[in-house]
Amino acid sequence: MKALPRILALTQFTAADLQTLLSLGEPAELRQLYEAAYAVKVRHAGRVVHLRGLCEISNICRRDCLYCGIRRSNAAPARYVMTDSEVLAAARWAWQAGLGSVALQSGERADPGFIDTIERILVGIRDLSHGQLGVTLSLGEQDEQTYLRWREAGAHRYLLRLETSDPDLYAAVHPDGWALAGRLACLASLRRCGYQVGTGVLIGLPGQSAADLARDVLFMRDLDVDMVGMGPFIPCAGTPLADSLGDFTIRRAQQLELGLKMIACVRLAMPDINIVAATALQALAADGWQRGLRAGANILMPNLTDPRYGREYRLYDGKPCSGPTCQQSCDSVMAAVEAAGERVGLRERGDSPRWRRRRG
Ligand code: 5AD
Repeated sequence: MKALPRILALTQFTAADLQTLLSLGEPAELRQLYEAAYAVKVRHAGRVVHLRGLCEISNICRRDCLYCGIRRSNAAPARYVMTDSEVLAAARWAWQAGLGSVALQSGERADPGFIDTIERILVGIRDLSHGQLGVTLSLGEQDEQTYLRWREAGAHRYLLRLETSDPDLYAAVHPDGWALAGRLACLASLRRCGYQVGTGVLIGLPGQSAADLARDVLFMRDLDVDMVGMGPFIPCAGTPLADSLGDFTIRRAQQLELGLKMIACVRLAMPDINIVAATALQALAADGWQRGLRAGANILMPNLTDPRYGREYRLYDGKPCSGPTCQQSCDSVMAAVEAAGERVGLRERGDSPRWRRRRG
């Protein structure tokens, strides 16, 4: 096994190197890891954080993922769909506040009505922002035709998490025959359609080891994605994995630390991509976002969903809702950026340096 300073100075990592980093537990060693990753982030992306105003359009979902609170067979959430004008009002707010980009997320649907609605909303956002507001979609698996329609209507980034690169673990937590191969085919489609492509994994799923996560990092590097959004698994009442980690009050700190270590590893392995500090970090600690930024993340997503809906978009227990107003949601994100010693890149899209380089 290599000594820590030697690993932190590498530019190419083996699974064993990453597994060593993901297994660190000593505070002094963790500090070295986070500082090394943060230095790489500053070198490639500067001391600036870009924002994606998050709009959770609907919690209706055709899938039944074992970990997820809005899975089809969970009767707890009251199902909702935001109207076009509600989504456009959130986008207009983001545009006027200078957020630079919005992210539209939803439970997965692929019916023609849904596809048309998204297309209409995208055209609306393009019109209201004169084509300047960045738009990330996070709307699950679709066929290439649909990805293309949405791309042509104005979306330019797409986040589709792998959840795990292990085909067996993927199959174990995704029933109904959904397979990793389908996910990978979608990521390839998204690339062909000209999106900036993002992926990510769930961190700390039951049965997932440091070796598995190390392989996830290399898998994402080999996919050569432009962005990564990933977060710690947090159990959700009413789902099959609700009690899978035992007493979660004891596991919280560990899940947070694992999430931060993954951010640092991804930053070291993929220096010039965009990395989101996920809301799940903030659900685990009041300074979760700030710590995510100091471990190498450079993107935050203030939640612009009206809390009346956001309450029902409960992917996991304790998921923070947006503030009573969009401004209050943004204020808490801004406070995290300031506490991390960074600044917000207002009125900038904040495309990943990797993407800009790819385009030449
Ligand atoms: N804990 C953490 N993240 C979750 N997600 C879904 N359920 C959970 C959970 N219990 C994540 C998935 C999905 C994203 C929208 O939310 O990774 O891709």
